[in-house]
Amino acid sequence: MLTELQPFIGRFHPLLVHLPIGFLLLAGALELLSRVPRFEGVGLRRLMPTVLGLTALTTLGAIVTGNLLSWSGEYDAALVGRHQQWGLMLGVAVTLACVAAWWRTRAEGAAPDRLYAGAFVAALVLVAGTGHFGGSLTHGETYLTEHMPAPFSGRASASTTRGPVDPSATLVFKTLVAPTLDARCVTCHGPARQAGKLRLDSPEAIRTGGESGAVIVPGSASASLLVRRIFLPTSDKKAMPPRGHPAPSHAEVSLLRWWIDQGASFDLVLADAQVTPDLEPAMADRLGPVDLGAPSILSVRVQPGDPAAIEAVKALKLRVEPLQAGSSLLMVQAPPAARAFDDTALKALEPLSAQIAWLDLGGTQVTDAGLSLLLPRLVNLWKVSLDRTAITDRTLLPLGKLQRLESVNLYATSVTDAGLKALDGLPRLRSVFAWQTQVTPAGADALQAAAKKARVNLGAPPAPITGMTTGDDQASTDATTKKKAD
Ligand code: HEC
Repeated sequence: MLTELQPFIGRFHPLLVHLPIGFLLLAGALELLSRVPRFEGVGLRRLMPTVLGLTALTTLGAIVTGNLLSWSGEYDAALVGRHQQWGLMLGVAVTLACVAAWWRTRAEGAAPDRLYAGAFVAALVLVAGTGHFGGSLTHGETYLTEHMPAPFSGRASASTTRGPVDPSATLVFKTLVAPTLDARCVTCHGPARQAGKLRLDSPEAIRTGGESGAVIVPGSASASLLVRRIFLPTSDKKAMPPRGHPAPSHAEVSLLRWWIDQGASFDLVLADAQVTPDLEPAMADRLGPVDLGAPSILSVRVQPGDPAAIEAVKALKLRVEPLQAGSSLLMVQAPPAARAFDDTALKALEPLSAQIAWLDLGGTQVTDAGLSLLLPRLVNLWKVSLDRTAITDRTLLPLGKLQRLESVNLYATSVTDAGLKALDGLPRLRSVFAWQTQVTPAGADALQAAAKKARVNLGAPPAPITGMTTGDDQASTDATTKKKAD
């Protein structure tokens, strides 16, 4: 019976601990007031034994529930020990203060006064210390200092440590994954507490896993408990982090998933990783602009686009958004409502030629004729989707001249191996989706051999774009992941 109730009663500890603190502060306030001449006749002192008695009782309650909670073994033993010692001393001090307060109402003299003052001051010091150790247990030892401005906490601020990033010396796990776990998970899965018998603060611990065994399946983020728990709806009691605790950002989660999908190696360096363009903003967030062979699109600075031109494009039902907060580069996307968008409408994009970095005209009526006029102007084009359009190899010729191009989606078009060859001089080309086209495996291999980091995808529909959008697009992918997660 007790073993069943123990975790339940233990849960009340974090709630109960606020009561003695409140009563003690009330006692302090009454004590001060009783010294104000106006209140001398009111007899506030006669209240003190009662208030301090309540402090003592609730302290006892906190000690009992805290003790039950500590049995779970999830917390750091040394820290729990200190918290308990201070809690017990607090109980003694408050009890003494209560007895002395009662004694003071009975007898005049220096002895009760001195006992009272000593016990009271001790109680104030002890309640602060006990509270601090308790806070460290639940929020981690750095909870007081983590948001402290750098000059006070003595930490170097993040911006001063940023320098040019060398991809061959940058460990993916250490720089892109561990900071997320440290910030969002380690308070409960680290040295102070091992919730679910899981620690996430070292490679060995992560490999070991928790109560349910391994939390990572190298090569498959969607099969990994670590990721599945994050994708559970927040209302699920197994969701991580638990409701009310700050969750990792969308970008942080995409980096975590990507690292696991890449094999979850703790020694992987950035230069050897397959970086898809959609991850770059998330990476740049952590590392600053990353040089992966040529200037990254994010380091490109352009004048802001003409607001009237942007409005004109929006009037054609296209979505126009900054590529990243604060950037003048644009993402222009044709939603299903813009199916009728065609070559004549393409002219509206011309005034924004320098700003367009991501152009998605999938499923629209555009053709080679219109694109051959527009594309050569899009010098900052980084990512383009022309899937399900009437384009042919002719459109690939101007694309092959756009030096910043990294990602090309040609799904369900009539492009061929000969057309694909036009892309083989692109220095930053990473991914080409050529599913349901005339492109053959031999043609794909030829391009991959010529453009070293390029991957030609012939077998699967284009992956949903993640990491850059505000979440709408992601919602559907998340929903499928959630259903699979336990
Ligand atoms: C506020 C505390 C808290 C935070 C923060 C937290 N967890 Fe947990 N976690 C728990 C508790 C409690 C359990 C055990 C109960 C359960 O399985 O749901 C747990 C269990 C787990 C488990 C299951 C372990 C097993 O082997 O059964 C995984 C995986 C996990 N957490 C991952 C994470 C990740 C990833 C993060 C950070 C994004 C995180 N947790 C943040 C409290 C926390």
